[in-house]
Amino acid sequence: MSMLTAKLLKHFQLRSMVVNSRTCTKWERAISLARSKSSATPTVEQHKYSTEPQMQLRDIPGPSTIENLTMIARKGFLKQHVYMAEMFARFGPMFRQSVPGGRHVVYISDPVDMEHVFRSQENNNPYRGDMLIADYARKSGLDRGINGDGESWSVYRKLVAPKLLQLGALKPYFTEILNVADDTVANFTDGKNVNLQDHLTKWGAESVVVVLFGLRIGTSYKSMNERAEAFIDAVNGHFYAEAKLIFSVPLHKHFETPTLKRAYRHVDTQLAIMREFAAETRKHETEIARNSLLTKLEQHDELSEENLMFLCQNLLIAAVHTTASSTLQLIDTLSKHPEVQRKAFEEIRLVLGDGQQAPSYQQLSEMKYLRALIKEGFRYNTAPPGNIRITKAPVTVRGYHIPPGTTVILSTIASKEMQRQKYNDPEKFAPERWLRRTDKEIHPFSSLPFSFGRRACLGRRVVNMEMALLVLRILQKYEILERKDPVNWVCHTVVGPDKPYSFYLKKRH
Ligand code: HEM
Repeated sequence: MSMLTAKLLKHFQLRSMVVNSRTCTKWERAISLARSKSSATPTVEQHKYSTEPQMQLRDIPGPSTIENLTMIARKGFLKQHVYMAEMFARFGPMFRQSVPGGRHVVYISDPVDMEHVFRSQENNNPYRGDMLIADYARKSGLDRGINGDGESWSVYRKLVAPKLLQLGALKPYFTEILNVADDTVANFTDGKNVNLQDHLTKWGAESVVVVLFGLRIGTSYKSMNERAEAFIDAVNGHFYAEAKLIFSVPLHKHFETPTLKRAYRHVDTQLAIMREFAAETRKHETEIARNSLLTKLEQHDELSEENLMFLCQNLLIAAVHTTASSTLQLIDTLSKHPEVQRKAFEEIRLVLGDGQQAPSYQQLSEMKYLRALIKEGFRYNTAPPGNIRITKAPVTVRGYHIPPGTTVILSTIASKEMQRQKYNDPEKFAPERWLRRTDKEIHPFSSLPFSFGRRACLGRRVVNMEMALLVLRILQKYEILERKDPVNWVCHTVVGPDKPYSFYLKKRH
């Protein structure tokens, strides 16, 4: 059989699979389709791992440009996570998407390939492309800073990383982050509660402001003052405007569309309010203000006041919705797993006794099951649907040559699917898998919520502390009950519910 005939046959095989899958709009259906086929007829040749390029980027199978445009027109990007799962089901562990302008985006799902791509870019100041905030920086004469590229990014990274990632770096914030968790839980009641993402967005914002400025702004209090309200509106407004811009035809690259103007206005508001926070931090003589990231960064006088404020804004926006969305998904998952809640509660009681005693920094670190539960939540759910690299060095994956300048999406969604080969019983939400290593060997690249390497998330320790404290304080007080109605998950750069998420709690006696 000639190569061409083989390709044509495979093409028609795939077409019929596509027709069969037309009715399967749900993510779960797509994933189960992937599961049934991925070992049978993947289009990208099953791993004979080769670093020698045999084929070009355009040879990687994938949907047509028309199909992509149709999807954008139908606002299909809100279902980007579903789309990715469906495409992996159709094309195997790697596919190519053509985008207007003759460019290509490559999607990768196998952890072995991901590791290869990530590592191939590590020596060249890895880059994930510009966000809206980079355009804002250019327009305003600011450094692109932590979201930038090259040497300038590297300088910012070296400035911030030790202050957030070094062992013990977060200890000064512990008590106040616990207080934020307590204020958030104080807003919950026995029975039905509404709009979990609103609670969690405020909790996420309030917690990161503690780290940045060493102060409370009151977004998680029962009643917010005007400034706290304006602040949270600006954080939400920026996030949704940016998501809209990312997932629409990029007219804003050519002129200031109304959505772009709105997004910029929200950034202006955040910066204006943050200047007030900074003034308060500088006035305060408290221990936490002295330990705030702002105070630590100020010791580097090479940073201008404008760039310092902009850096704080960049950290804020990286923190809030990622944290809120991951935590919402974790709470949703816990509500369906009372046995996991029970085990976590037992551990909490063992360390802290009955009642609602607050943990110390040391006691929190002793709660291994709670830590495993959060780690498993990141494996089981997925907030950002993929990590991005714009290649600087050429890389060959499965025999395909990926040249510099290509956008590669390293999909956390489909890597979850690939985990099937890596984990025992991957459908099971099982924190235990991280405690006793009886599992198949877990490939470290099969669960990368914070990405990998020199560019990986700087907030990962902050998040782990915040989430552990919030979950602990909820479980000390309540059981989380399962919702009756299903959730429609959509993707505004991170995956969350399409409408306000009601949740149900039962007070422990
Ligand atoms: C559950 C919550 C979070 C998730 C899932 C998450 C995930 C990520 C991911 C996937 C990246 C891209 C990394 C890359 O390109 O390799 C990233 C970057 C980043 N994150 Fe997070 N993040 C979270 C929370 C936070 C928080 C709380 C902060 C701040 C305190 C933060 C600060 C940052 C910064 C500054 C970057 C840019 C790093 C760089 O480009 O050098 N993140 N995060």
